Amino acid sequence: MTARIIDGKAFAVALSKAVASSTAAIKGAHGFTPGLAVVLVGEDPASSVYVASKARETVAAGMNSFEHKLPADAPESELLDIIARLNADEAVDGILVQLPLPKHIDTNKVLGAISPDKDVDGFHVINAGRLATGQSSLVPCTPWGSMLLLKATLGSLSGLEAVVVGRSNIVGKPIAQLLLAADCTVTIAHSRTRDLAEVCRRADILIAAVGRPEMIRGDWIKQGATVIDVGINRVPAPEKGEGKTKLVGDVAFAEAKEVAGAITPVPGGVGPMTIASLLANTLTAATRRRGLPEPTDFADACARLMA
Ligand code: GUN
Repeated sequence: MTARIIDGKAFAVALSKAVASSTAAIKGAHGFTPGLAVVLVGEDPASSVYVASKARETVAAGMNSFEHKLPADAPESELLDIIARLNADEAVDGILVQLPLPKHIDTNKVLGAISPDKDVDGFHVINAGRLATGQSSLVPCTPWGSMLLLKATLGSLSGLEAVVVGRSNIVGKPIAQLLLAADCTVTIAHSRTRDLAEVCRRADILIAAVGRPEMIRGDWIKQGATVIDVGINRVPAPEKGEGKTKLVGDVAFAEAKEVAGAITPVPGGVGPMTIASLLANTLTAATRRRGLPEPTDFADACARLMA
């Protein structure tokens, strides 16, 4: 059997369209334009590329984009001052501080300074706590986007065995919470897990979020399982020529697709969903802050657009 390939790129286009039409409807009905502020410290090339595409897609969805760039040696206090201003700015509905931050800046302090109601990354402890206790929260973008892909692929997830490999605050822990809320039986595995391959073989849903290129092999996967590969690893690709590189996931895709029922590719799987999810979160933050009804159910809207 060859797995169905889950087309995250097409899904992200559908989600962005759903967000854009919901934004236009809100503008028409309530006369405001949602705004997303992105803060970048330093000039890391990968981060600069992400920030530029976030700004471009924010504007394409009909929202205002505000960019703040600080030099790599900017003091922490300067970043905290900007966050305080953005917290107080009525035109700003969402605030994202691009990670990683330079070493002299305390990341937890910075994330904790963002107003939880504008925390479109969902990294503030208040949002993590709300998610863990089943309260309405802003949910981290990559886990939220992964859940949309899973629900579109499987429908109900109730009763399924889910194994999450990776325990980061950004992906592993929040996605485990979302799977639990969707009535899965959830195992969080990590680099110290004994007999990791055997644990993975239990999974109806396998989430790979370890950041190790192609670590999860085909024979770790149960026949017919759904595999969501969150890893994005740049590795040498001598077959493409001297000094060339390519992107691979945490799953050995060529082996895995012969066993899995459905699988996300890298690139073109979870990655494209992250920015679309960020825009959906910005719209959600904008409506909640103003006491307006929640925007469309994006999972339903995407399913309709993909049908
Ligand atoms: N750097 C890489 N991914 C992310 C993300 O999802 N949010 C933020 N703020 N920084 C990142």
